[in-house]
Amino acid sequence: MTAEKETQPQKWWQKGVIYQIYPLTFADGNGDGVGDLQGIIQRLDYLNDGDPDNMSDLGVDAIWLSPINKSPMVDNGYDISDYRDIAPIFGTLDEFKELLEQCHRREIRVIMDMVLNHTSNQHPWFIESSASRDNPKSDWYLWQDPGYKDGLPNNWLSYFGGTAWTFHEERQQYFFHVFNENQPDLNWRHPEVKQAIYDMLRYWLEMGVDGFRLDASSVYSKDKYYRDNPVKFGATDKNAYHNQDHLYDKDLPDNHEIIREIRNLVDEYEDRVLIGETFIDSRLYDSNSFYGVKNDELHLPFAFEFPFSPWYPGYLQREIEKKERITPDGAWPTYFLDNHDIPRHLSRWIECALCTNPIEIAKAAGTLLLTLRGTPVLYYGQEIGMEDHQNIPKEQQRDQAVVATPMGELPPNRDGARTPMQWDASVYAGFSFGKDVPPWLPVHANYQDVNVETALKDDASILNFYRLLLQVRQGSEALCRGAWRTLIHYPYEHLAYLRETETEQVLVLINFAYEKPLELDIPIEEEGWEVLASNIWELGKTLTLPENLQSFEIDILKKV
Ligand code: NOJ
Repeated sequence: MTAEKETQPQKWWQKGVIYQIYPLTFADGNGDGVGDLQGIIQRLDYLNDGDPDNMSDLGVDAIWLSPINKSPMVDNGYDISDYRDIAPIFGTLDEFKELLEQCHRREIRVIMDMVLNHTSNQHPWFIESSASRDNPKSDWYLWQDPGYKDGLPNNWLSYFGGTAWTFHEERQQYFFHVFNENQPDLNWRHPEVKQAIYDMLRYWLEMGVDGFRLDASSVYSKDKYYRDNPVKFGATDKNAYHNQDHLYDKDLPDNHEIIREIRNLVDEYEDRVLIGETFIDSRLYDSNSFYGVKNDELHLPFAFEFPFSPWYPGYLQREIEKKERITPDGAWPTYFLDNHDIPRHLSRWIECALCTNPIEIAKAAGTLLLTLRGTPVLYYGQEIGMEDHQNIPKEQQRDQAVVATPMGELPPNRDGARTPMQWDASVYAGFSFGKDVPPWLPVHANYQDVNVETALKDDASILNFYRLLLQVRQGSEALCRGAWRTLIHYPYEHLAYLRETETEQVLVLINFAYEKPLELDIPIEEEGWEVLASNIWELGKTLTLPENLQSFEIDILKKV
């Protein structure tokens, strides 16, 4: 893939770094133990204080907020009961406007999570729709008469376990839900549903939000004949959902039509971004189709290449090369390591790493994420090396949406990756400002060592390394927009790649097996490389290759 045309200015969402906040556990401003908008406002200076001379912040360019709309919180906000209001546990609409204003003042953009595939069953639309078969909203959801197979309309399954059909007494019909039964799917074939959703999107865009992350954006439309999905030959996944070929309930052509309509709408407003969780089994190739044939769908379709990769250079490189090859011209890649649905990378990768020191893995993983060609998305806490809480007692668990079926299928509980942000070493990791109230989920036991305050004071911390990486990235044309080129074709213990424009080359070297000195024979000129960043904290030195390469850990070097 060639370098971006250097004459065209990059969009903020191409150049910038996005930071995902899980509002329930990021920061608690009012001391009730639950994260909220005031908590986020009070922590904005940590993310980016807007002062280019003050380098103590992290320096992110945008925040993506997991849902903050009104919700009964069965799926912790991914079940919305009022799209135009804020959940009272998070605050008020006025507080959201204040957050927007405070973010924009610091040049932080705000991306809202939009859950458009389904609503909560407490949403007035569903309450009305379910009241009778002949009310004005009766077709706003997917209702079907009992069918042939154990009374169910067809064989479609819920991602969260069991059948996707729940019987409703009043209507004597089943309704469809790809997630929990409290999250009925909207009928996207109904013009009034589309209109209501599009009006609501305008409402937030006009308020000034900078874009949306569309939840489950590849399952909006379903087959109008409700045909059974074929079962995959020989598939034995514990979650039976994965054993079907989702031919009729996922990634249908009409889904692309809907995304194009949303993109058109978003494009009416200046400089907004459309991100989507593409949620498809075959990941990369199909996720890519969500750029749209004419780059007219999502700006940034999330695929899950790193979350599903082991921590091995060869494997990771294969994912990057694939993405480099298939990202269409004019489209822009995006990468992430973690999100609120999967175990954090330090918990996933520690077992399978060539080096088992979490600090080194965190720095290497951060280097990878922040030096590839594409927009990096960070998940709160990864910048300090937060790990999953593996032993949350049953009575303190909050992820009620995933359900065990009678067959015992159980998608993993996701609470471990959603524990409170670790701000300092005080009680409950300083999560609630000045108050010792137990937070919504228990704090990870390592908070006295792993927290923002401690990390900021330690030059060699993961956080300070991330801060440096963000600065280096921002200051380098090659890292922001340059082409990516590997220097090793079959990597075994390290990655070495170039990011280059016509005027600048950046060489990234990541060692995955720290005990061993490495000898690399790479085809680049030997002299004149300046160290931009290194995990052994040597900056601004001019090096002569290849001696340096014989003991590198992580180095980012530049030649102009
Ligand atoms: C994907 C979201 O990331 C996840 O947290 C949620 O449970 C489902 N979609 C349902 O909205």
